[in-house]
Amino acid sequence: MPSAPAAQDTAAALVAPHGGRLNERLATGAEAAALAERARSLPTLTLDARQVTDLELLAVGALSPLDGFLGRADYDAVIDSMHLASGPVWSVPVTLSAPDEQARALVGREACLVTPQGVPLAVMQVAEAYPADRAREARMVYRTEDPAHPGVAAIYAQSGTLFGGAVRAFALPPDPEFPEHRLTPAQTRAAFAARGWRTIVGFQTRNPVHRAHEYLQKVALELVDGLLLHPLVGETQAGDIPADVRMRCYQVLLDGYYPRDRVLLSVLPASMRYAGPREAIFHAIMRQNYGCSHFIVGRDHAGVGNYYGTYDAQTIFDELAPGELAITPLRFEHTFFCRACGSMASTRSCPHPSTEHVTLSGTRVREMLAAGQVPPVEFTRPEVAQMLIESMRGAASAR
Ligand code: ADX
Repeated sequence: MPSAPAAQDTAAALVAPHGGRLNERLATGAEAAALAERARSLPTLTLDARQVTDLELLAVGALSPLDGFLGRADYDAVIDSMHLASGPVWSVPVTLSAPDEQARALVGREACLVTPQGVPLAVMQVAEAYPADRAREARMVYRTEDPAHPGVAAIYAQSGTLFGGAVRAFALPPDPEFPEHRLTPAQTRAAFAARGWRTIVGFQTRNPVHRAHEYLQKVALELVDGLLLHPLVGETQAGDIPADVRMRCYQVLLDGYYPRDRVLLSVLPASMRYAGPREAIFHAIMRQNYGCSHFIVGRDHAGVGNYYGTYDAQTIFDELAPGELAITPLRFEHTFFCRACGSMASTRSCPHPSTEHVTLSGTRVREMLAAGQVPPVEFTRPEVAQMLIESMRGAASAR
């Protein structure tokens, strides 16, 4: 019988990070202590909650090959051509905005990046300050200039001056949620290697896992060694289910319905941009950095409202040249439970009319849960529904 592969062999067999190597921007030990000490005498730049999540992603290497917030050449190249100026694919600007008066004073100097509560986290070498072109960014990245789009609203709300430059963090944001599930790319890679997995499918989600999500994951699990269930836990829009509730739902589902040794649950400390197709590529790049070989892209991935076509987030991958990303998108059509088939299906596998299909809008599901009604078992596992109902009751009685 062949012996199990050694962890270092499988580590080498995992996909390479985007750009070739993990670019972790987090100092440790004596270097971190020295940086923290130096930061005490530097001018401070206060990040907003979204920028704190971007800084954490930079620190842990999830945004490899980036070494900091984008400068002007990269900002323009990402917006116009979906690539960094140096060549690699990059779909969403990762920028740092600051009050205009601060900009002039800080260029060419170091600044200490602090949380909204004033906790120092990183030293930034402020290389340049430049004006944002929000309308162009919105049009090209978000495919709309509508200020009602939550991602567009978030960039419009920021100041018009951007800072570019490398960052070196000396601490991660304090009091993280889900510390036991907050693995860095190096840690997920090590976990995959320790399990002997070579092919891993990443699953992005900002929702509880309903039956459709479960189906996509399990179809993928038929083909690859392991699943990284990788919910996004940074900023989301009001109305999305809070991350702590989602985490309880994931756990109850994994305990009841997934093979324990083939799934890793870990969180992605990123904020949602709701940029649909562009964000699908961004999500895929990050999952490549976490060590995934495959990435699930279903219907209207990272979409919001009616801004994107159902499969725009899939077809955008066709714009990339072969080999530009090492991670492979796994594209799925809209899936649902079909009563006539007696199983989950999509129009690719089911011949029956839509009257046989159990589909519910997100709004309808929320209404049902808020009223204490359990959605059909074909839509959501009862244990998950129960957990969602209880959390909504708890939230209502706390108001
Ligand atoms: S997202 O903003 O993170 O994309 P969500 O958590 O709802 O939202 O979706 C997670 C993934 O599942 C995405 O790839 C999405 O396209 C896919 N997905 C969700 N529901 C379905 C469905 N019914 N059929 C096919 N794909 C789906």
